[in-house]
Amino acid sequence: MNNNQLLVTTAMTQYPVIVAIGALDTLPERLAGLGLRGALWLISDSAVYPHYGPALEQQLRAADYTTHSLTIPSGEASKSQEQLWRIFDWMISGNVERRDAVLALGGGVVGDLAGFVAASVLRGIAVVQLPTTLLAMIDAAIGGKTGINHSLGKNLIGAFHQPRMTLADTLTLRTLPPRELRAGWAEAIKHGVIRDAALFSDLERYADDFRDPERGVLHPAFSDLVRRAAAVKVAVVSADEREQGERITLNYGHTLAHALEAATGYGRLLHGEAVAIGMHAAAQIAERLGLFALADVERQRRLIAAYGLPTDFLATIDPDEIMTLMMRDKKVQRKRIRWVLPTAIGSVVVRDDVSEVIVRAVVEEACAPKR
Ligand SMILES: NC(=O)c1ccc[n+]([C@@H]2O[C@H](COP(=O)([O-])OP(=O)(O)OC[C@H]3O[C@@H](n4cnc5c(N)ncnc54)[C@H](O)[C@@H]3O)[C@@H](O)[C@H]2O)c1
Repeated sequence: MNNNQLLVTTAMTQYPVIVAIGALDTLPERLAGLGLRGALWLISDSAVYPHYGPALEQQLRAADYTTHSLTIPSGEASKSQEQLWRIFDWMISGNVERRDAVLALGGGVVGDLAGFVAASVLRGIAVVQLPTTLLAMIDAAIGGKTGINHSLGKNLIGAFHQPRMTLADTLTLRTLPPRELRAGWAEAIKHGVIRDAALFSDLERYADDFRDPERGVLHPAFSDLVRRAAAVKVAVVSADEREQGERITLNYGHTLAHALEAATGYGRLLHGEAVAIGMHAAAQIAERLGLFALADVERQRRLIAAYGLPTDFLATIDPDEIMTLMMRDKKVQRKRIRWVLPTAIGSVVVRDDVSEVIVRAVVEEACAPKR
């Protein structure tokens, strides 16, 4: 295992996660190294493909690969039955074979959709994840969760289908809209809080250097930090592939985040922004329970702000609605919300006995800031 390579190990499989600047240039040789020699079905989106698709296809063809490519519209709405069927039609009419592989070039939307295609076409073919958002590099493209949305809710149809490899080229983040990059940092901060205090400290240390994306991506410490944030996801899914135990810790900040996203209409707040607000709320709940020091609540708040992320929501939302929405979260069991709460920077506990009074007080503060 070289320096840039992490390894996901599950009961059924093992695969590398590579995070490095210029990593896409090594794709042809790495595919050959994995024994993938069939045709390649490149799926990307309309914002990503023009930047990286043509050059990648050219490289693959130069290495004697047959490539086909298809672009979906950029955005969450593409995680749909319509796009799924469009891709199936394209692949089946193009005579896809079991030995072929799907290449998912894009953010979490492309990764989830293309991953689900790979999980289901011909009862499953290989997929290689090529994430191009920070969120996908450290979270969505690792762990094998794939799927599409249903009109009644997000991610309701899908499958676990581990990729054969996740190859993240940090150079692609230079074209990512800055707001999307900031949203990705929320998940990196989350990974520091739940499992890696040194990662948290280094995120503090480099916040100023990383603020400007163009310069930040080229900073010598950048790829290393992204890799260490990805390493947390690798460790958690290796310990708990099917979300029966430790994987719930990745839900830190998400209980309130999901409710906020639903209450504000998806799209107004980016997921990472909602997670930032959710982490601050969870830290405050932990503090009120005597689990987490006030100084650490403040330290986390400062780091969230240093990456240009919010800790409260400007418009007033009805706390009753938030409380109701939180009870509908997928992670609720026997009508109890399972809160992932920090006990120190670098460790969390799961508690399902948090009093509604405490939660409501914190939610009211998050939803109606005094300005
Ligand atoms: N499978 C999982 O475990 C998992 C985990 C977390 C999130 N998700 C899913 O991921 C999705 C969100 O992913 P996301 O935040 O990456 O969003 P996204 O895929 O929509 O990408 C965000 C935006 O950036 C654009 N973009 C992506 N990379 C770019 C680049 N390098 N240059 C220029 N533009 C670029 C995209 O076209 C899009 O407009 C959600 O659907 C969520 O459900 C899945």
